[in-house]
Amino acid sequence: MSAAANTGALDRAQLQGNILRGYRHKQVRHLVLAVAERATACAWLGTITGGDTTLAPQITTEAPWLVKPDHCFNIGITAQGLRALGVSAEVMASFPDEFTDGMAARALKLGDFGNSAPSRWSAPFDDPALVHVVATIHADDSAHLDRVQQRVQATGNGQAWRVLGARDGANFNGDQVHFGYRDNISQPRFVGIHDPADYPDAQPLAPLGTVLLGHKTAFEGLFWPVPQPAVLGHNGSFSAFRVLAQDVAGFEAYLDHAASELLAHPQGHELLAPDSAWVARSGLTRHNALREVLAAKMCGRWRNGVPLALSPDAPDTMDPTHPVPLGNFDYQNDNDGARCPYGAHMRRCNPRGSTIVQRMANHTRRLVRRGIPYGPAYDPAKPDDGIERGLLGHFLSANLAAQFEAVHYDWLNLGLQDPRITGSNDPLLGANDPVDSWFELPLPAGGAIRLRGLPRFVSTRGGAYLFLPSLPALRHLAAA
Ligand code: HEM
Repeated sequence: MSAAANTGALDRAQLQGNILRGYRHKQVRHLVLAVAERATACAWLGTITGGDTTLAPQITTEAPWLVKPDHCFNIGITAQGLRALGVSAEVMASFPDEFTDGMAARALKLGDFGNSAPSRWSAPFDDPALVHVVATIHADDSAHLDRVQQRVQATGNGQAWRVLGARDGANFNGDQVHFGYRDNISQPRFVGIHDPADYPDAQPLAPLGTVLLGHKTAFEGLFWPVPQPAVLGHNGSFSAFRVLAQDVAGFEAYLDHAASELLAHPQGHELLAPDSAWVARSGLTRHNALREVLAAKMCGRWRNGVPLALSPDAPDTMDPTHPVPLGNFDYQNDNDGARCPYGAHMRRCNPRGSTIVQRMANHTRRLVRRGIPYGPAYDPAKPDDGIERGLLGHFLSANLAAQFEAVHYDWLNLGLQDPRITGSNDPLLGANDPVDSWFELPLPAGGAIRLRGLPRFVSTRGGAYLFLPSLPALRHLAAA
C-alpha cells in the first residue's frame, strides 16, 4: 500500500458504471473479445468514449440517470489485453502482480483445481491468454442485447476484435439464483454516494477506495497503489469475473440426506422446535422444514432472503421483498453462532462486526457483487437434465489480492478468521470433498451438530481478472 493518492472530488461521469450502482436489467451478455488489430482496437476505445452514439455503443458511466437507459455497456480489460493494446512493460509493472499474473495463474488460491482447474475451463476461457476484453451488455430483452452486440462487432471497421464467445445470463423469478436463494441484497454502500438514511446498515459506509483506485480506503491513511500514469489508474477498479456452475441436483440431494440425519439426531430438535409455529403455518413436513433450516444455515439467509441474524427461527417474520431492512444487522451479539453459524457462506464472506482472528480486517475486504444466473431454472422433476446452470459474476474491488483473493482463500477456503471453522470450506461454494468436509450447526443451548460428507456444489467453468478503466483512461489507451 502507498500512503498518498490523488483524492480529488469524484466526477461520476468519468467512471464506468455498474461499480457504485447496480443496473438491475433483466438480462446480461458478456462478450469475450481478443484484439485482432491493435490500432483499430485502440481507436475503437476512443469511439466508445467519444459521445457519438451513431458511431458505436457508448460506455455507460456512473453519472446519475434521469431515465434508466434501455441498455448499458461496459468493458473490462485483462493484463494480456492491455499488452495486446500496446501498453508498455514499464506501465504493466505498475499493476499489481495478481492482475498481471491473471486468474488462471492464481488457481490454487481460488480453489480452482480438479474439475475446476483452468485446463478444464470451457470455451471461450479455455485459452486464458487469448481473453483480452470482457464487454458486458445489460438490457431487459435479447433483442437489445443482439443489437448492441452487432454494433460492437460492426464498429471498429469490424476489424478491431475477434469475438471468442459470449455468455448470457438472465434473471428468473426476481433476484432468485440457482439453489433457490434470493441474492443481490447485501452490497457495500459508499461514503459520499449513498445516504445512510436511505440504507440504514449496522455496518459502516464503505470508503470509495474499497472499490475505486486513488481514493481513501478502510485502512487509516493508506491507499492502494494506483497503476501509472495516474490517468490510466485513477478511478479504475478491478473485477474478478467468474463463471460458476452450480450442481443444483447435488445440492438438493444433500439437503434431503442431511435433513434425514438431523431428524434422527438426538439434538436435531434444538434446531427446529417440535412445536414450531412456522412449521404449523407453512404446512411443511418436519423433514422438509429441516431442509429449509439447513439451507438457511449454510447461507446465512433463508432462501427467501430473510437473514438468520434477524429471524433465526422462521423465514416468514419479515417482508422478504424489501432489501433495506434485510441488510441491516451484525453478528456481534451472535458470537456463538446460534443464529447464523460462524461457517455460513455470508458470514465467511463478510464477518461484519464478528470477533475474527484478523481483527483489523472487519469491514475491509468488502466486495461489490454484480451477479446473474445463467442456464434455465432447475426443475426438480428433471434432476438429470444435463444442462449447465450457474452464476456469472463480476466481483469488484480496488485490490484483488487484499479483497477478492483474501476473502476466497483465507475465509472461504481455509476458514482462517475463526478457529472454530479453520480447516473447513465454505459449505455452498467451497472446494469440498465428502471424504473430509464438515459444516457445524451451533445449537442455541451450546454445543453443535457437525455434518460431514459435503460434496462440491460449485465448480469454476471460466473467468478472468479484469481492469475496469475510467473514461479518461480509455481515452488515454486510445491515444497511445
Ligand atoms: C455460485 C456461487 C455463489 C452463490 C450461489 C452465492 C450465493 C449467495 C447468497 C444467496 C448470498 C446472500 C444474499 C445477499 O446477501 O445478497 C450471498 C452473499 C454474499 N456472497 Fe455469495 N454466492 C456465490 C459466490 C460467491 C463468491 C465467489 C464470493 C466471493 C468470493 C461471494 C461473496 C459474497 C458476499 C461478499 C456476500 C454478502 C455477504 C454480506 O455482506 O453479508 N459469493 N451469496
